[in-house]
Amino acid sequence: MNSAADRHIYLDSAASTPVADEVIAEMLPYMKQQYGNPSSIHKFGRETTRGMQLARKRVADLIGASPREITFTSGGTEADNLAIKGVAISAKDSGKSRIITSSIEHDAVLEPCRDLEQMGFKVTYLPVTEEGMVRPSDLRDAMAKDVALVSIMYANNEIGTIQPVMELAKIAHEAEALFHADAVQATGKIPIDVKNLGIDLMSMSSHKIQGPKGVGALYVRAGVKLSPILHGGGQEASLRSGTENVPGIVGFGKACQLATEKMEEYRLYVSELRDYLVDEVASEIPHSRLNGSQTDRIPNNAHFTFFGVNGEDLIIKLDENGIAASTGSACSVKKQKQSHVLKAMGFSYEEITGSLRLSLGMQNTREEMDVAVAALAEIVSELRQLSPFKSKYA
Ligand SMILES: Cc1ncc(COP(=O)(O)O)c(C=O)c1O
Repeated sequence: MNSAADRHIYLDSAASTPVADEVIAEMLPYMKQQYGNPSSIHKFGRETTRGMQLARKRVADLIGASPREITFTSGGTEADNLAIKGVAISAKDSGKSRIITSSIEHDAVLEPCRDLEQMGFKVTYLPVTEEGMVRPSDLRDAMAKDVALVSIMYANNEIGTIQPVMELAKIAHEAEALFHADAVQATGKIPIDVKNLGIDLMSMSSHKIQGPKGVGALYVRAGVKLSPILHGGGQEASLRSGTENVPGIVGFGKACQLATEKMEEYRLYVSELRDYLVDEVASEIPHSRLNGSQTDRIPNNAHFTFFGVNGEDLIIKLDENGIAASTGSACSVKKQKQSHVLKAMGFSYEEITGSLRLSLGMQNTREEMDVAVAALAEIVSELRQLSPFKSKYA
């Protein structure tokens, strides 16, 4: 293994992933030769439309949908905004003015909900268990006739916990509400069949599954009524105006096709590596704990608390050692706030402060896990020596 100076170990695949070679190869012609606007009727336009059609089919195939139920967006954030605001605005005239979501959603869900509150809508934020799970009984108790939409994430971006989506969707439907899942962290990593699960709307993002950044999609079940939030030329069946990001969409489609073909290989490889990492951390680093669900968790996520240290200091020290990690949401780091996810799970200040997310991908190796755990053990011990809790944990 290389020295720390030229070491590059990327353990932040939940934030973004390297673009697969096959994806780049498929995108390139749509930047060089097939650069027409898909709305144009000439040959150049028809070529790009064909590329988009194939991509739409590949995205649909990954989640058991039909291609016409896929609306391309600029990413997961826009898909979430379109689902939440689109349903809320469309349902207003029918007297449904409430949304139910959870307290551990990504900001791409929470912020549009807060915006809707400013506009007079009501929003209920469900609590979660200490493993970050929404209790179906809490949703059942909160349901009423005025609920237009239930929006619960498929898998959490910080702790990786997978929600009981099928059960939650059923409860939403019993009260005649729609069910949206932010599946940005789950899509392509675990099998998802939207029809079987009863999902009405689902957000996806390309750059989490080895596709390019700045592209994603919203699955909208045929028959679901939605108001657009971007108005203009009427692209994407008038749901999302704006000239389409054709190279990005083509790349996203290829990434979805690869995810469909390699899902089992991915799941086996990455979850085995993650379990190895978790075991090594448990045996090498005292006063550490794995957070989130032990069983219902996406394959690539490991989230720990290292007691007596500050997670931000850990990240900086790991970075100096050529290891990329995160405390959780990349967006939250810029906003400089404590994790609302861990707070909602009832974590103490100390438990939140000492938290670290390591998220894996196909590019990682067992050797990298060994190097990362050795570096982590050394850094944690060093930081504990400097901590006011030295006598408790050092
Ligand atoms: C759960 C979740 N939702 C939404 C998003 C936003 O997706 P995008 O980066 O494509 O806008 C992210 C990104 O980290 C996420 O993890």
